[in-house]
Amino acid sequence: MHKINNGLIYFFGALGGLLFGYDTGVISGAILFIDKELKLTTFTTGIVVSAILLGAMIGAAVGGTLADRYGRRRIVLAAAVTFCIGALGCAVSWNVGSLIFFRVILGTAVGGASTLVPMYLSELAPAKVRGALSTLNQLMIMIGILLAYTINYLFANIAGDWRWMLGFAFIPGILLFFGMLLAPESPRWLVEKGCENRAREILNQLRHGIGVDDEISDIKLTNDQPHSGYRDLFADWARPSLIIGIGLAVFQQVIGCNTVLYYAPTTFTKVGLGSSAALLGTIGIGIVNVLVTVLAVWLMDRAGRRKLLMIGNVGMSVSLFLMAFTSGSGAATSIMTVISLSVYIMFFSLTWGPVMWVLLGEIFPLRIRGVALGVSGVINWFANLMVSLTFPSLFARFGTALFSVYAIMGVIAFIFVFCMVPETAGKSLEQIEASLRSSSLRNVD
Ligand code: GLC
Repeated sequence: MHKINNGLIYFFGALGGLLFGYDTGVISGAILFIDKELKLTTFTTGIVVSAILLGAMIGAAVGGTLADRYGRRRIVLAAAVTFCIGALGCAVSWNVGSLIFFRVILGTAVGGASTLVPMYLSELAPAKVRGALSTLNQLMIMIGILLAYTINYLFANIAGDWRWMLGFAFIPGILLFFGMLLAPESPRWLVEKGCENRAREILNQLRHGIGVDDEISDIKLTNDQPHSGYRDLFADWARPSLIIGIGLAVFQQVIGCNTVLYYAPTTFTKVGLGSSAALLGTIGIGIVNVLVTVLAVWLMDRAGRRKLLMIGNVGMSVSLFLMAFTSGSGAATSIMTVISLSVYIMFFSLTWGPVMWVLLGEIFPLRIRGVALGVSGVINWFANLMVSLTFPSLFARFGTALFSVYAIMGVIAFIFVFCMVPETAGKSLEQIEASLRSSSLRNVD
């Protein structure tokens, strides 16, 4: 039997999300101080900021496949070690090149965690609360971002400032490592590997002995066909889930979440706040995001995934259009911008932020869950990279009108969800798989 209680298992299972949020969020403040010491150009600034996204693409690409082969737990352990090495490496880097190198290393752990955490949590959770438990991932991401904003604020202008900011991530990294040493392997993966007895022991603890036999036989039933990884991605029965996964991954980024998130502080200074007020304002947004995500945990299984996504699209597109078309200077415009930006971020944190990752953990047939999550994860990070890299120059050219492009993407995303995305709330992973497979059969007929 393993050594910790169920609450702690889920906590450590989700802790990788905190590192994901911390490491992607911390750079927005740290970059100001890195620039002072290492003298960055516009070009190297861009590279230092997006190096982590490049690493994340690699991590997401290999994380799922490795987790299918060696088990979820072992690969999360490997990611934890990488988080620690990356954090320490960044903290002691001696020039821009070494900093970029360690940011890429760190990125591989972030990308790995981005696909492994939802996978691990959805495989441990009972169907009834699976959405809520998987939302823990996004909650941890948000807490990680808030922690990063706070650490940025606290360490600003202290000797070694940015080194402390980047190095601080070592602490949650080491916690993740020791936590996962005590956490169990995913019972679904164990059954697939033929270790049914071990899976039964773990499920007995997680479910307090209730319904374990049924669950094991459900997993086995879904597991009946031979395994062939990447080739299966193109099979008829896999196609509907793959199209949905890739669509969700792309739309989550092209609706502009990270441009708004990354540039919120800048926008605050533009509408007239001083820099420390802007930093505090950013912490304010961080707090609101955490609170809204708590609400999302509660709503996920009650309102259902589809409804949340569509409500999110309406709220986000309306606020983006407002940002795009309120022009001119003056207090009224500033207030309007701050309000629309906050409303946008709240809608994102309540809906697309968490729901996309929850759905990615659920919609893929077990046989291809690792590789398919990897493919969608890579595409999500690639879309993130493209949007984040192009935003500054597009914004300089088109101004706030640019937001209408993200708003239109939101409208298309709404239609996509309405037509393609199934409701998964309250269904077991095996039921979801069966219904997506039969929808592919209908298409074939
Ligand atoms: C989601 C997105 C990620 C974003 C984060 C912000 O997890 O996938 O790109 O930075 O939300 O909360």
